[in-house]
Amino acid sequence: MAILVTGGAGYIGSHTCVELLEKEEELVVVDNFSNSKPEVLEKIKEITHKNFKFYEADLLDKEKIEKIFKENQINEVIHFAGLKAVGESVQKPIEYYHNNVTGTLILLEVMKKYKCKKIVFSSSATVYGAPKTVPIKEDFPLSTTNPYGSTKLMIEQILKDVYVADNEFSIILLRYFNPIGAHESGKLGEDPNGIPNNLMPYIARVAKGQYSELKVFGNDYNTIDGTGVRDYIHVVDLSLGHVKAIEKVRKDKGVEVYNLGTGKGVSVLELVKTFEKVNNVKVNYKIVGRRPGDIDICYADPTKAENELGWKATRTIEDMCRDTWKFINQ
Ligand code: NAD
Ligand code: UFG
Repeated sequence: MAILVTGGAGYIGSHTCVELLEKEEELVVVDNFSNSKPEVLEKIKEITHKNFKFYEADLLDKEKIEKIFKENQINEVIHFAGLKAVGESVQKPIEYYHNNVTGTLILLEVMKKYKCKKIVFSSSATVYGAPKTVPIKEDFPLSTTNPYGSTKLMIEQILKDVYVADNEFSIILLRYFNPIGAHESGKLGEDPNGIPNNLMPYIARVAKGQYSELKVFGNDYNTIDGTGVRDYIHVVDLSLGHVKAIEKVRKDKGVEVYNLGTGKGVSVLELVKTFEKVNNVKVNYKIVGRRPGDIDICYADPTKAENELGWKATRTIEDMCRDTWKFINQ
């Protein structure tokens, strides 16, 4: 009886594998390494001193996915695998819809065939579009502004329809806010290929001297210091949310949605200052124009996850900055 982790070599997937292995769960991991490296699998084993089965396969390859279900008794699936760069999704919509939506449909077809009816899906706060108020609750209106976000919204809808057709399913949609940080061992973290789109990996590279300065996208938002505010959540806290979600899908049938965030908003400049202070480094920055598509403020109301999953983020912004720096210098 194993949990299948799709995209388990990726940033959030790898940290979640660690937390599940620490809980003695049996894992089968699948990844096509389109945005990750095989070394990550060794790091997971080093940290946990535990082993798991791995398949190098693409979700679009139905035969290979079937083979996984044939060779293992998969009871639950945690579905991380997907392409996630917002800007790239605007340039390559067909690839994004195909990889994310078709990949999920193939996974669901195979799950259905093998009577596996428990799934935890990686959704995103991006499905809230530009929220009218904060903190954001799960029942806020949904909308998207780019193909990446649309794939998340479509997959949420597909999963809701799957439940309508078959009430034996247990489905949890986890809407992540802004995951940052790294494993405290320094062995796992986020190190994107090419120029990072996201704030924290960029800050880390400026601190390291790889880039001369951070471009702060706008200081004229209606926020504490004019820069964008987000709900940054430590990747280990986020991973622990999946451990709780697995407990819940084992217990209850239905479709549930949970925000995974801290409930606290932090501005770009607050994050920069905290990174400098905690790590005793300099992060040069320059204010430039707004990035198209960005919203001013986004943070979660995480009380539903606290009440129903018994999960709450405990790690601080300082922890996130310290652990990122440790990983970058490993
Ligand atoms: P990641 O890119 O590090 O991990 C995704 C993994 O999936 C990678 O290892 C990649 O190689 C693999 N993959 C992609 N397409 C695949 C396919 N067709 N078949 C097999 N493997 C495939 O990303 P992450 O940050 O760990 O994100 C995990 C999930 O969480 C994604 O679905 C992402 O959209 C979602 N999410 C991420 C964030 C974030 O800011 N990191 C925020 C909200 C939601
Ligand atoms: N920012 C900068 N400079 C940079 C990068 C980012 O000033 O070089 C600012 C942005 O303008 C924003 C904040 O830092 O105010 C955070 O930006 P990120 O790109 O790190 O994160 P986003 O909130 O824009 O988006 C992220 C993921 C999306 C996901 C969304 C909600 O990239 O995939 O969180 O979960 F949908």
